[in-house]
Amino acid sequence: MEPPLRIKNLTTKYDKLVAVDDVSFEIQPGEVFGLLGPNGAGKTTIISNIVTLQAPTSGTIEVFGKPPPLAKKEVGFVPQELIHHGFFSVEEILKFHASYFGLSLDRPYLKYLLEKLHLWHHRKKMVSQLSGGMKRRLLIVKALLHKPKLLLLDEPTAGVDIELRASLWQFILELKKENLSILLTTHYLEEAERLSDRIGILDHGHLGKIDTTQKLLEKHSSKKVTLALTKPLPSLSHPFLKGQSDHHLDFQMPNDTPLSKLFAEIKIPLDAIQDINIKVGTLEDVMHNVLKPK
Ligand SMILES: Nc1ncnc2c1ncn2[C@@H]1O[C@H](COP(=O)(O)OP(=O)(O)OP(=O)(O)O)[C@@H](O)[C@H]1O
Ligand SMILES: [Mg+2]
Repeated sequence: MEPPLRIKNLTTKYDKLVAVDDVSFEIQPGEVFGLLGPNGAGKTTIISNIVTLQAPTSGTIEVFGKPPPLAKKEVGFVPQELIHHGFFSVEEILKFHASYFGLSLDRPYLKYLLEKLHLWHHRKKMVSQLSGGMKRRLLIVKALLHKPKLLLLDEPTAGVDIELRASLWQFILELKKENLSILLTTHYLEEAERLSDRIGILDHGHLGKIDTTQKLLEKHSSKKVTLALTKPLPSLSHPFLKGQSDHHLDFQMPNDTPLSKLFAEIKIPLDAIQDINIKVGTLEDVMHNVLKPK
């Protein structure tokens, strides 16, 4: 079977600016692929290329083996920019959207989606009466209404409150279990870390790193362990030791190395330890390390 998304040597220029620079990657069925990178890295441009809003300069895009214009029904898209359809109600907008795809409205499914996105009680409201977070949730309902198999989420939780964000994450994981494939861009790295099976890091249009989330964390982040001491200790020597004072020992070690290994090796008396502070490496560390000026 053809993969939900295959991008090969994609380059997109805006006049002289190379916004996307020879990017290639694939997304497999049921996979969440996080496309991360700083502002202006080219994430939205790639998504605009997939949804045919912006023509690429060169390279190919295939959605289930088809060129994007022939695969519109397979794709759901949540744009980064909020679009205002102020004069229509939530329900009307969604009815129009279904008819655009030549579908009659599946009312039980619509109710299910509106409830999932906490919009059922707001369905009669004019779109102009919705808050920013509600508008973004409406975009998500709209993207899912025609039951796409590939979902493109361009910062879907920007402006969505903490509780709803958590319920949206849960929902995305449910969709993934039903084999929906998802391309996610987000600046919330905790979100990317929780949801993405694989991550691509884009910088100035160039996709420098692609790997599983786990491997990126292993390779580009580390665990920081600080021991607060009850008393000064004699000078220690250990490859993980980054600093020693009368009050603290600072260690930096691979995320998957157990603390027991460190303690077995440094052999300090337990009564010398007042407190232990552990900070496991995160995707934020990965991004800092991968994107730091070379
Ligand atoms: N319509 C356009 N015309 C000219 N340049 C554009 C256009 N859209 C984007 N760009 C430029 O292309 C580059 C990539 O922009 P893009 O919106 O793809 O970045 P992004 O990774 O989505 O950033 P953000 O995280 O801020 O959303 C930027 O330098 C931007 O200024
Ligand atoms: Mg963007």
